Amino acid sequence: MAVERIVQPTTDDESPEEQLIEISLRPKDFASYIGQERLKKNMQLAITAAKKRDEPIDHVLLYGPPGLGKTTMASVIANEMGANIRITSGPAIERAGDLASLLTNLQDGDILFIDEIHRLHRSVEEVLYSAMEDFKLDIMLGKGPSARSLRLDLPKFTIIGATTRTGSLAAPLRDRFGLQHRLEFYTNDEIAKIISRAANILEVEIHDEAANHLAKRARLTPRIANRLLKRVRDYADVNGDGIIDTVVTKQAMELLEIDELGLDPADRRVLETIIEHHKGGPVGVETLAALTGDERATIEDFFEPYLMQIGLLERTPRGRKATRRAYSHLGKDDKLDQTKLV
Ligand code: ADE
Repeated sequence: MAVERIVQPTTDDESPEEQLIEISLRPKDFASYIGQERLKKNMQLAITAAKKRDEPIDHVLLYGPPGLGKTTMASVIANEMGANIRITSGPAIERAGDLASLLTNLQDGDILFIDEIHRLHRSVEEVLYSAMEDFKLDIMLGKGPSARSLRLDLPKFTIIGATTRTGSLAAPLRDRFGLQHRLEFYTNDEIAKIISRAANILEVEIHDEAANHLAKRARLTPRIANRLLKRVRDYADVNGDGIIDTVVTKQAMELLEIDELGLDPADRRVLETIIEHHKGGPVGVETLAALTGDERATIEDFFEPYLMQIGLLERTPRGRKATRRAYSHLGKDDKLDQTKLV
């Protein structure tokens, strides 16, 4: 990801120290995992049943926008199962042989977490089908007329796949996940609790009102909430006595140019482009990407889910539209094109 944005829910742009802090803030079990109540209930049921039968749980597919806790949930599931977890990602498994070595090194009950599973190479994906279905690994030995295929038994493992887009997953792969769950955006109250919990772990004092204030700017996303908390902590340490109150929070947010809905300049640019260049839309996502200089995938995976969730953007078959709320949030004259407003 080229641009560094404080509200971008990826970890790629963080230093190893920041990533370690991020990991230390993650809940380890269901009891400390805030939010995603339906998902937790479903997973607790599956785990209790699997344990009762002394079997691994079925393969799990977690999908939804980035930063909502897919990796965290996978670690919690492993912990609650008392299982080992190996973490990898779709693009990291380049060849069928890489997958074979990962799978043959697992033990009964182990969990293999594959992030960005929609980016698996086709040849790798095909090997995964039979591995997931009947714990067999089909490998080809040699090439040409003398090639032979070999079937190896694999341990009884569980795959937890994570993706921001189920639509990009081939149907045969998707169908092999017995448990498929979408991670939802969190409520402001849940985010405020996550912030208070993280502040406690980081041993920083934060007023309840400040936690609520920060929560409203965290795009309903825990990873962003924790990141904003660390930036406000810096601000409070440098400009005050280290205690995070509402005044310090507001000043820090102003410095970061994050507005009261959690939008940063890049989000506002997307909306302004639709409003100013296309009279509020509809505008195709490719055109939008060309105008803002972002990649299409960045617009689809990072900007749009939250903008749609809070009712600033609409996806229609003819393209993206800015809503009446977007006009008023940006202080744009909504008489520009009344007929197009939604
Ligand atoms: N930190 C990040 N995500 C969290 C969650 N869902 N619950 C508690 N702490 C978190």
